[in-house]
Amino acid sequence: MRIVKVPLGDRSYRILIGRGLLSRLGVECSRLQLGRRCAIISDRNVAPRFSKIVQRSLEKAGFQSFLITVPAGETAKSMKTMQSCYDQLAKHRLERNSFIIALGGGVVGDLAGFVAASYLRGIAFVQAPTTLLAQVDSSVGGKVGVNLKAGKNLVGAFYQPRLVVCDFDTLRTLPAREYRAGLAEIIKYGIIHDAALFRQLEGAMPRLLKRDTKTLAAVVARCCEIKAKVVGRDETEGGLRAILNFGHTIGHALEAISGYGKYLHGEAISIGQIAAAEISSRVSGLPGNDLQRIRHLFQRAGLPVSVDLGRTERKKLLKAMQLDKKVSHGEIKFVLARKIGSVVRGRRVSAGLIGGALDKVAKRKS
Ligand SMILES: NC(=O)c1ccc[n+]([C@@H]2O[C@H](COP(=O)([O-])OP(=O)(O)OC[C@H]3O[C@@H](n4cnc5c(N)ncnc54)[C@H](O)[C@@H]3O)[C@@H](O)[C@H]2O)c1
Ligand SMILES: [Zn+2]
Repeated sequence: MRIVKVPLGDRSYRILIGRGLLSRLGVECSRLQLGRRCAIISDRNVAPRFSKIVQRSLEKAGFQSFLITVPAGETAKSMKTMQSCYDQLAKHRLERNSFIIALGGGVVGDLAGFVAASYLRGIAFVQAPTTLLAQVDSSVGGKVGVNLKAGKNLVGAFYQPRLVVCDFDTLRTLPAREYRAGLAEIIKYGIIHDAALFRQLEGAMPRLLKRDTKTLAAVVARCCEIKAKVVGRDETEGGLRAILNFGHTIGHALEAISGYGKYLHGEAISIGQIAAAEISSRVSGLPGNDLQRIRHLFQRAGLPVSVDLGRTERKKLLKAMQLDKKVSHGEIKFVLARKIGSVVRGRRVSAGLIGGALDKVAKRKS
């Protein structure tokens, strides 16, 4: 087992990474000095597979747990599902010292985290991420929340978990497309912060695609280390944390205009990162060779590197970028790469340059 620490003073916590960890969850929770009662929030795909292991482990360690199952997919990140979670927590009389375990992907983690942040003005929660994306990204850092009709993640909080448990055994049942989507965030860490990780990924991609445990252990731990370091320095996205949004301005807009669901988040930010790299080669000096390596690595990961965009869609995309909640005073600011492993943030980019980058990622010119 590998352990990564997220350094946040008295709210610091550990990320445990390895195999067979769900069956140790009870023991690990005992170390947190919480109450005896807990709720497991999971979704309809994950609960039938893994909730028994978790419940047994909790019971052995002396906890009383009950399971709340929510629908699978992005629609579960809603006020309606939250309400139903609150009702069940109240029915089972969860108290201030009780806690919640989020067992599932990023959807369950964001939802259960926000439920924990707000129920009884905040009870403890533990992340047990079961998708690759959640293990390397969403379970660490404390961003929790739900969607509104008006947009994604519009209601939420910064609320840190007390523990994160990444068990690779859960990844075995993850559909291939979901698994590859997680690789897009992994590649992102290489581009924004770690040229050695990027090189390692270039060598290890075939093993990673086979979900080789040893390779996963090294790579997931490195990504968590990077995220932990960034979050430790900038918990609430005042500055540095923005580098984690590399490729996300265009990626989020693409998700929004194509109707959530067409592209998985990882697929949209794969295209977004290629576009951001194209802009970087014009604006922030990203060498042509690095641009090629970036494109090639996404391709080898089985991720999309181009998109079919007509003229109207392009306009919509630019408009959607302006609506992104990270935009202030209508100015679109980008995180851009100087070279693989190093980025600059807060760079203003003209619509013309964005258009040029979209030409480069377009499947056909309109
Ligand atoms: N909080 C953050 O910092 C942060 C960061 C990135 C993304 N997110 C959020 O994360 C969400 C996406 O997360 P995701 O990609 O994990 O999606 P997800 O939670 O929807 O999971 C993807 C699909 O895989 C299924 N699944 C999960 N684990 C499985 C397993 N082990 N075996 C079989 N099926 C399994 C789920 O039921 C779902 O159908 C988005 O809502 C996004 O906004 C949050
Ligand atoms: Zn992301």
